[in-house]
Amino acid sequence: MSAIALLRDKRIILGVCGSIAAYKAADLASKLTQAGASVDVVMTEAAQRFVSPLTFQALSGRPVYTDMWRAEFGGGLPSHIAHIGLAERADLMVVAPATANTLAKLAGGLADDLLTVTALAIACPLMIAPAMDGGMYDHPAVQANREILSSRGAHVIEPESGRFASGLVGAGRLPETAALIGHIRRVLGRDGELAGHKLVVTAGGTREALDPVRFITNRSTGKQGYAIAQAALDAGAEVVLISTTAHLPTPVGARKVTVGSAESMKDAVLAHVADSSALIMAAAVADYTPRTVSEQKIKKSDKSLTLPLTRTPDILMAVKAQRAQTGYPMIVVGFAAESENLVENASGKLQSKGLDLLVANDITADDAGFAADTNRVVVLDMDGGLHSIERTSKDNIGAYIIERVGGLLE
Ligand code: C5P
Repeated sequence: MSAIALLRDKRIILGVCGSIAAYKAADLASKLTQAGASVDVVMTEAAQRFVSPLTFQALSGRPVYTDMWRAEFGGGLPSHIAHIGLAERADLMVVAPATANTLAKLAGGLADDLLTVTALAIACPLMIAPAMDGGMYDHPAVQANREILSSRGAHVIEPESGRFASGLVGAGRLPETAALIGHIRRVLGRDGELAGHKLVVTAGGTREALDPVRFITNRSTGKQGYAIAQAALDAGAEVVLISTTAHLPTPVGARKVTVGSAESMKDAVLAHVADSSALIMAAAVADYTPRTVSEQKIKKSDKSLTLPLTRTPDILMAVKAQRAQTGYPMIVVGFAAESENLVENASGKLQSKGLDLLVANDITADDAGFAADTNRVVVLDMDGGLHSIERTSKDNIGAYIIERVGGLLE
C-alpha cells in the first residue's frame, strides 16, 4: 500500500468487535498505517478472543486500547482518560467489524466498554461496518438499529453477500480492505476543495466493433483516469466515471457509466457534462472505426481482408461546441499521447480543442503512459505555462491534475 495524501497524519480510531471478521480489521489497520494514517485500535473483550491486541499493536505501531478502567496507555493522548484522549484527537472513528451486539449498544447509547464509551465522546464522523453470520443482519432488530444509527448521521457500510464461516450464505460479510478504505476516503474528503462540484472523468481505450465478437482497441488500461477519479473523490467532488474498462475496481463513491465505442462515449460525455464543473478526458479515444459493423461473425475466406475505416467523432470538439453555447463544463482537460514532438503537438491540441489544461504523455517510454503504474507527463495550460512531472505514480499525477482543476475553478 502506498501513501495516500488524504490519509497522511489523519487520526483514525479503529473499533474492533468480536467477529471472525476481526482478522480483516488487522489488514485494515495495517493498510491505513501504511497509507500514512495514525491508527488507534480499540478492542472489545470479545474481539480479543479472535485476534490478539499485540497483532494490532505490531501493525499500527501504537498502543492498543482495551480496558476502560485503565488510566494510562501511553501513545501521547491529550488526556490520561483513554476515551476522552482518543476522542479529542480523532478525525474519524471506524467500527469494523461491528457485531449485532455493539450495533445495538451504539444505537441505544449504551457505554459499558471502551469502544462504546469512546463512540459517545467523539466529535468526528462515525463509520460502522456491520459483520455477522447467517441472516442475523436481516433481523428486524438489527435493521432497526442500523436505521437509528444512519438517521443520526453515522456512515453505515452495507455488508457484502457471500459465504459465512458457518457455511451459510447471505448478507453480512465485512467488505474487503480496499472497499473499506474507499469509504473512509469518501468521508475524510467530504469537505475538500471540490465539494459541491461535479466532475466527469473518462478512462480507457474505446472499443470499435467489427462484428459481434471482435473490436479494435488500443493499449490504454484506464489506470490514469481511475486515479484521477479517486483524486477528485478525495477532494470531495461528485464523480461520474465514463469508462470502457471492466477490470479495475470502481472507486467508492464514483458513479460509473460503462461505454464501448467512441460514439457511445461521446453521447455519455455530452449528457453528463451538461451540469458539470469539469471534464477530464483521460480516455484513449479511437481515431477510426469500422465503416460498418458486420451483423454476423466475419468468416475467413480470402487470404487478406480489407476493412474500410472511418473517422470517429472528436468528443472534445463536440464538448467545445456545447460549452460555447451553455458554458458547461466550466473546465476541460485533455490528454495527448505523443510519440514525437511532444510539446509542440500538445500545444497545438490545447488550442484547437479549446482546453484549459492538456496533459501530454510520451508513449515511447515503458515506465510511463499506457498500462504502467507510473507516468511522466508535461502539463500545458492556456497561458503558455508548462509544468513537467518526472516519473511518479499515476495517483500522484491524478492528484496534481485535480489540484490544478481546483485552482482553475476557484
Ligand atoms: O486523439 P488526440 O491526440 O487528438 O486526443 C487528444 C485528446 O482528445 C484526448 O483527451 C482524447 O481523449 C480526446 N479525443 C476525443 N475524441 C477523439 C479522439 C481523442 O475527445 N475522437
